[in-house]
Amino acid sequence: MLKKFCKGENILSSLFNVRLNVALTFNAKPESQSCLPDRQAFPEIVPPNSNLDSFQQEKSMDTYAEWDTWETINAVKGAIEHFHNCTLVEADYTAFEKLKEVNPQIVFNIAEGFNGASREAQIPSMLDMLNIPYTGSDPLTLAICLDKARTKEILSYYKIPNSRFVVVDSPERAKDIDLRYPLIVKPVSEGSSKGIFSSSFVKDKAALINEAERILAEYNQAALVEEFLPGREFTVAILGNGSNAEVLPVIEINFNDFPNDFIPIYSYEAKWILDTKENPLDVFTCPARIDKGLEAKIKDTALRTYSALRCRDWSRIDIRLDGNNVPNIIEVNPLPGILPNPEENSCFPKAARSAGLNYDDMINKVLYVAAKRHKLL
Ligand SMILES: Nc1ncnc2c1ncn2[C@@H]1O[C@H](COP(=O)(O)OP(=O)(O)OP(=O)(O)O)[C@@H](O)[C@H]1O
Ligand SMILES: [Mg+2]
Repeated sequence: MLKKFCKGENILSSLFNVRLNVALTFNAKPESQSCLPDRQAFPEIVPPNSNLDSFQQEKSMDTYAEWDTWETINAVKGAIEHFHNCTLVEADYTAFEKLKEVNPQIVFNIAEGFNGASREAQIPSMLDMLNIPYTGSDPLTLAICLDKARTKEILSYYKIPNSRFVVVDSPERAKDIDLRYPLIVKPVSEGSSKGIFSSSFVKDKAALINEAERILAEYNQAALVEEFLPGREFTVAILGNGSNAEVLPVIEINFNDFPNDFIPIYSYEAKWILDTKENPLDVFTCPARIDKGLEAKIKDTALRTYSALRCRDWSRIDIRLDGNNVPNIIEVNPLPGILPNPEENSCFPKAARSAGLNYDDMINKVLYVAAKRHKLL
């Protein structure tokens, strides 16, 4: 199926037999507001974890990590406008009224939402209420996938491998954990490596208690404590639905280029401090250099996960091998990061490029599979 969308064949233009009125829902990082010509249009900026008080928010330097920059928002809008009309709708407190007024035929949703563990579900819930179709997963899937523990419970039900874990919701609970060290401690409901630093890798009880307390205090949520998966790490982008869901070329995350004192995890430091536009880290190999057997196992595990969690249109699934080289699911991202600049190492666009889809093709392919699913085409 992918062949149909290869660059140079100008296939996308023939996919869309109608020009759709599309709205793009988003949350913009406040530091990128200066790029906005009309700042007044978006007066209210509230961070995703704004249930914290302002002191806690200052301490959480990664508060806005999951929101998008104007570079990304404009790139998505530009891609959509190759074939359709596109209206920007910021996912703020007035979003419901704006969506009702704009009344688009379909929404391209990249909004991360404002408060609480179900924040990614907010815009899709409004759209369900308004009966407006949208790209991507429904509120239920978005809310479940943002809770890594709930996700793992479902995966376990379907016998999809994932590391053993405990949810720690009080400092006391951290003291009697029966898991095999080393462990990794992360906030239960975050993305973009928020709260995951080198110190999240713990080898003993004292370090575990410290980390769990840090997460409970700074992120105002439970800590997910997991057994550490020691093997190679991959991330897998999936596009499409049902039997037409396709796995884009597998990406491997290599830790060889990391400084020696860095723990081999794709942490906040690795993602946003070590790897910069000026000094890009050579962390990704796409397609991953893996034998056919391992590739088949990774793809099968990713597709079973996509189906078990009822993901729609697109998602990115993080996988790591355990001590027996079995692919284990780390987490599922039904709203994958999509930085447009190839130097910024965003994985979904990277996998798409490797399959012959440039950024604009990728965005329009997501819109296409969503519009098809909603029977708009
Ligand atoms: N159980 C584990 N074993 C080994 N490494 C892990 C484990 N869980 C997380 N990691 C490491 O930490 C990184 C970040 O973890 P995770 O993917 O859960 O965070 P995230 O913030 O949701 O990431 P994303 O930016 O993909 O949304 C992983 O890419 C991996 O390198
Ligand atoms: Mg991840």
